[in-house]
Amino acid sequence: MVSDSLFDNPFTPGYRIPPPYLAGRDEERRRIYELVGATASRRCVAKDIIIYGPRGTGKTALLRDISHRIETEHKNATILLIPAIDLEASEDVGKLLVREVGRPLWEAMKPESFGLNWQGLEAKWNKGDLSLSSVRKGLSAKCQRNPLIILVDEAHTLDSEVCRKLFNEAQTIRGIGGPMVVVLAGKPQLVGVGNRSDVSFIERGETISVGLLDGESSAQAISIPLRRERMEIDGEALQRLVDDAQGYPHYLQLWGSEIWKLAKLKQKNHIDASDISVVMPNVRKEREAAYAERFNSWMGQDRLLLQKITGRLSKSGMVAEPRMEEMITEELKIQGRQETEMERIYGKMVETDYVWRIRGDKTLMPSIPSFFGFLREAERQKIAERKRESRRGGAGS
Ligand SMILES: Nc1ncnc2c1ncn2[C@@H]1O[C@H](COP(=O)(O)OP(=O)(O)O)[C@@H](O)[C@H]1O
Ligand SMILES: [Mg+2]
Repeated sequence: MVSDSLFDNPFTPGYRIPPPYLAGRDEERRRIYELVGATASRRCVAKDIIIYGPRGTGKTALLRDISHRIETEHKNATILLIPAIDLEASEDVGKLLVREVGRPLWEAMKPESFGLNWQGLEAKWNKGDLSLSSVRKGLSAKCQRNPLIILVDEAHTLDSEVCRKLFNEAQTIRGIGGPMVVVLAGKPQLVGVGNRSDVSFIERGETISVGLLDGESSAQAISIPLRRERMEIDGEALQRLVDDAQGYPHYLQLWGSEIWKLAKLKQKNHIDASDISVVMPNVRKEREAAYAERFNSWMGQDRLLLQKITGRLSKSGMVAEPRMEEMITEELKIQGRQETEMERIYGKMVETDYVWRIRGDKTLMPSIPSFFGFLREAERQKIAERKRESRRGGAGS
């Protein structure tokens, strides 16, 4: 049966929208739940959690998943899912905690004896009249009744100082018996932000990197939601789709959404390989628009350098981080530029989802595999264009 609405598409291409089925993240979910679930069960755990991975790999989806699980299974716990932008300065961490303490702090401090209500207390905190140690005491008391779980999304945009403050406070509260845990999720540069705040940042956290899905999980990301909607996809079609998406969760949703729309349009409930061919150009177009956007943030000599490195990597295969740094330095020298630019360029490669490193691996990985293909194609087209121009007689050059 095919329903007649186009608006019930179960797939969610885009960012921050939970997928219809969270495929292939059992291990990650288990590791997160081990600490978060223990906290929600009123135990003080030893570590906070750091989740990192390129854009579109499903960090927000993991936060949503854990948040949902705690809300349904541990009604006594308080779970806050907040964007990093809400924690601009380290004072904001204090404010957040003071707000969370709420009534228990009020009770612990008996501020009515000073003629204060809760707002008065908050005002006192904002003025700096209230000591952090009394807030901590109140917070620990509150957490014993209602454990506190703070999930911060887009955490790579946090200031290092804020990062440090969050981890330190969570550790201190636990130290005085208050079950509390912090989960930071962000792009790979989060590791750098954290390490600037504290050299042992990574060791202090349970660190989980999220990357591409394997073939089986990719297939499930598509086939399970389809089956729920009583739609089928044949083996060959599914394989072509999975091969094209290359394990990138965002593209799997894009594919799912496009085949869904086509099936609705054709009023059919079986998807085959010919449907894949019909939808392919749409998927490619969307993808290339996203790549062009990333590529456009590389200008002038930086752009040439990126193209050079891409060419070299496609011959040599992926390399380890130190080798990448050498390669950037070599290319900078060829361009007659300062070697000191290396760090900025490497940082930008990570920021624009060009490469990243999975935890425990030495070799870098393309953040989105087909972005490399896009860059090589852009280079090929540029060379072809140059040849055409020189054949036209080099006018204007
Ligand atoms: N494990 C998964 N299985 C299927 N789809 C996923 C999975 N993780 C994420 N997605 C989908 O991929 C897209 C990007 O996910 P998101 O959580 O926003 O990524 P990030 O926060 O890492 O940028 C969303 O459309 C989301 O629904
Ligand atoms: Mg996200």
